[in-house]
Amino acid sequence: MRYAPPKGTYDILPSAPGRDAVQDSSNWQWLESHFRELCRLYAFSEVRTPIFEAHELIHRSVGEGTDIVAKETFDFVTKGGDHLTLRPEGTAGVMRAFVTNRLYVERPTSKLFYIGPNFRYERPQKGRYRQHHQAGAELLGAAGPEADAEIIALACAFYARLGLTDLTVKLNTVGTPESRAAYVEALRAWAEPLLPQMSADNRRRYEENALRMLDSKEPQDIALLGSAPALRDYLDAPSQEHFAQVKHYLTALGLAYDEDPRLVRGFDYYTHTVFEIQSSVLGDKALGGGGRYNGLIEAVGGPATPGIGFGLGLERVLLALEELKTLEAPAPTLGAFLCPLGDAARARCVELLAELRRAGIAADMDYTERRMKVMLEQADQNRARFAVILGDDELAKGVATVRDMQTKAQESIALDLLAERLA
Ligand code: HAM
Repeated sequence: MRYAPPKGTYDILPSAPGRDAVQDSSNWQWLESHFRELCRLYAFSEVRTPIFEAHELIHRSVGEGTDIVAKETFDFVTKGGDHLTLRPEGTAGVMRAFVTNRLYVERPTSKLFYIGPNFRYERPQKGRYRQHHQAGAELLGAAGPEADAEIIALACAFYARLGLTDLTVKLNTVGTPESRAAYVEALRAWAEPLLPQMSADNRRRYEENALRMLDSKEPQDIALLGSAPALRDYLDAPSQEHFAQVKHYLTALGLAYDEDPRLVRGFDYYTHTVFEIQSSVLGDKALGGGGRYNGLIEAVGGPATPGIGFGLGLERVLLALEELKTLEAPAPTLGAFLCPLGDAARARCVELLAELRRAGIAADMDYTERRMKVMLEQADQNRARFAVILGDDELAKGVATVRDMQTKAQESIALDLLAERLA
């Protein structure tokens, strides 16, 4: 019996030549360290929440009529009878944690970030997985447009730092729940006579979540949507003003954006600003997206608190960088690889390894009594700067032969000076 990873998942493995970018663990460490460092600069603190949550929390916050909840959640019942859902995204769980732990008392303005896996039962393809990873940030307790700009700026800074430049920020506003409701009514009235000409998906959305009809990728729907009423005509004055201010700040920060009046995004919790970031090399698969959700915290049982945030798909970042041939993650390297010849030398190498590591030198040794040629190949494979060769001769003289793996030059160095000299 041979097992494969479950459909739509993949393994992340040590770096090796030819490895797919998403499967190379050094790429993940590189991405995550950049995101952490940026979050430190922007004063966001890390939260880690469970990968499963109460079924009801996920279904109610994401929204019963959304594709994610209607088709894509992994729901299960525990042996104890609890109804749980693997999180399909990070926001609902972070809001739950904000409320459960009363962070609103401790930090009325909370700037939180997270990195982790999410689960969606989607049809797997390149850039679409059943377990994918997001780096996310949520800014809670600030209703002003500065917070919207801060969140979008952080997302853009992350991509810029990684060298992703061919990006478009698509921006829209969905207004307040009231203006949205008035719009949805108008949209349904417009759509009703056209239903026979629409795709089956949009006919379902008409019943369940009419706003999402705007998101259709079907040509027949896109053609019809040209004559649909526009959301912005239904926005109240404060919503218009908020959106104008967000755009003003983005321009002041030098961040370009494209207004897209049909961008509504796949969650019910959004209010006001929504955005999506696209790369020219990923087609219609977004690199990341987010928006404001001023009613969500109250909906999960907390005090009325505004919020805005984003989730950035990390696999897609790696795919885009790979596509653009600009992936620059540094592969891990070793300072020294120890090659013992014989039992006495091997015993001494165990101590030497400890000494080198105390001196801050990344080091490893051969454990398997291999031939010198094979050990040197192993040193190369581990990208070691130096191979340290220790046989009976060297041991008797209290030295090691140190080989520079690039120049191949060899030098004899006293064992008690080894750590100092290699450092
Ligand atoms: P989302 O747009 O559903 O938003 O997901 C964010 C990003 O995760 C997407 O733009 C995409 O890059 C990546 N992603 C989503 N599904 C998959 C998948 N099946 N395979 C690979 N990548 C995927 C959210 O999840 C919201 N929670 C964002 C947010 C945070 N809004 C406010 N705060």
